Amino acid sequence: MGILDKHGVLERNVTLLAIFAFLVVTIGGLVQIAPLFWLENTIEDVEGMRPYTPLELAGRDIYIREGCYVCHSQMIRPMRDEVERYGHYSLAAESKYDHPFQWGSKRTGPDLARVGGRYSDEWHVDHLRDPQSVVPESVMPKYGYLENRMLEGEHIEDLLATHRMVGVPYSSEMVENAQADFKVQADPFGDTDGLLERYGDKVPVRNFDGAPGISEADALIAYLQMLGTLVDFSTFTPVASR
Ligand code: HEC
Repeated sequence: MGILDKHGVLERNVTLLAIFAFLVVTIGGLVQIAPLFWLENTIEDVEGMRPYTPLELAGRDIYIREGCYVCHSQMIRPMRDEVERYGHYSLAAESKYDHPFQWGSKRTGPDLARVGGRYSDEWHVDHLRDPQSVVPESVMPKYGYLENRMLEGEHIEDLLATHRMVGVPYSSEMVENAQADFKVQADPFGDTDGLLERYGDKVPVRNFDGAPGISEADALIAYLQMLGTLVDFSTFTPVASR
């Protein structure tokens, strides 16, 4: 009896039940949320992270526009089956420059958090053009038209400035040179010194879709090819085991 009998009082009195439910939710919420305000770093800094280059950022916008996130997640959970299939589980820091984040909520296709470097650019061109040509059982739609839609990057400065407004550390130099950086990343014969100085010398520079000019496919493939490649997991140690 005892406490169980008293519980009956709560169950028969709606107002009392509401008050106690509110108290329980408040305490539970405080326990979860409050510590985040006192932790030195809610998101641990991880070596290798850098903001997206202008071309990658444009590709990311196309990814969002085309609704790729409806079928693809970008978050590898720390479970064995996921880690064996996709690679090291995703770190919070790996999404810190994502506005909005692309974790997704459904996987009709595989997780893409570490798809960068897994396939060649040519594979991506073929796959976007006609997914069934490389994966016969695929249910992914065709995106061949992206190759024919050319980009000049005329609004790319504004795009970087907007991301800076929400906290991405783009320098004024990065914003001012956004259009030049945008164009030169897809031009293997261009002068890439500025781009590499601003974003690091590991930034891939190539003609991603293999065709002249900068198409939406160039931008999208540049984005896909860098996903999950910034942090070097052969040297990374989580804080807890340092
Ligand atoms: C209707 C669901 C759907 C949509 C929308 C979709 N995909 Fe897919 N995607 C799939 C499926 C299913 C697969 C697995 C079969 C295959 O490789 O085609 C896949 C595979 C992939 C792969 C290969 C992943 C790997 O590890 O093998 C990439 C890259 C990819 N999709 C990119 C994209 C991009 C970029 C977009 C948006 C332009 C997109 N997908 C939109 C369903 C979808």
